[in-house]
Amino acid sequence: MDILNVNNLTFNYKDDLPILKNLSFQVKNNELVSIVGSSGCGKSTVIKILAGIEKPIGGDIFIKSISYMPQSDTLLPWRTILQNILLPIEIRNGDLVEEKKNAINLLKRFNLLNYVDKYPKELSGGMKQRISLIRTLMSKGDLLLLDEPFSALDALTREDLQGWLLDSLNSLKKSMIFITHDIDEAIFLSNRILVCHEKPLTSFKEFLVPKNITFEEAAKLKKEILNSVKGVNDEKI
Ligand SMILES: Nc1ncnc2c1ncn2[C@@H]1O[C@H](COP(=O)(O)OP(=O)(O)OP(=O)(O)O)[C@@H](O)[C@H]1O
Ligand SMILES: [Mg+2]
Repeated sequence: MDILNVNNLTFNYKDDLPILKNLSFQVKNNELVSIVGSSGCGKSTVIKILAGIEKPIGGDIFIKSISYMPQSDTLLPWRTILQNILLPIEIRNGDLVEEKKNAINLLKRFNLLNYVDKYPKELSGGMKQRISLIRTLMSKGDLLLLDEPFSALDALTREDLQGWLLDSLNSLKKSMIFITHDIDEAIFLSNRILVCHEKPLTSFKEFLVPKNITFEEAAKLKKEILNSVKGVNDEKI
């Protein structure tokens, strides 16, 4: 069953050139999908529309509940780290006592327990990204929309969190759309990779990632995806 069904999505910002034109794609229940493509091709725009932040000019979207982590930092500066994480719970009138326990466990897992009562300006960019990811997971949507969630992390933390994210998604039975510029990361985390290969975007080029992919298969797939991303760069830039 599809958790997301997008049909003929068309969009441009104000009077600018079209960015999306009759774009259709689907995400199935429990499917992990990455979107890759050159800077400015419209990746963030697609998930901003799915999150309801931008309004499409045309097309239909069927979507269940979502949890969205934007590309830019959206922690509220006047709230402490714990208060920021608990924001989605307050908004949906959830069980604050129980969810506070969950938040503390997640902060422990992310090595951020000492920062519970600090404010966002006291944290590094990578720490803020981890907090935003925790907050996104606490908002409990069926489909996670993650816009470059690991871009500010050092390589070791990034690898650790990739493994953790995959385990969490499997155990929570969630679906995901994950935007990244790192093709290895996309191959590691996804069942399917969507590549922006044209501008305006009328379709994604799709690559399936086989289960238990071998090192050689992954290297070959990476090359194919890179060629497909490069195609649009060579043409347009
Ligand atoms: N609020 C906005 N107003 C006008 N144009 C915008 C706005 N946001 C993005 N754009 C333009 O829309 C196009 C797609 O932007 P988008 O942010 O979706 O790209 P992206 O694929 O996410 O890039 P990156 O990999 O750099 O994050 C770009 O040409 C950008 O300049
Ligand atoms: Mg973006």
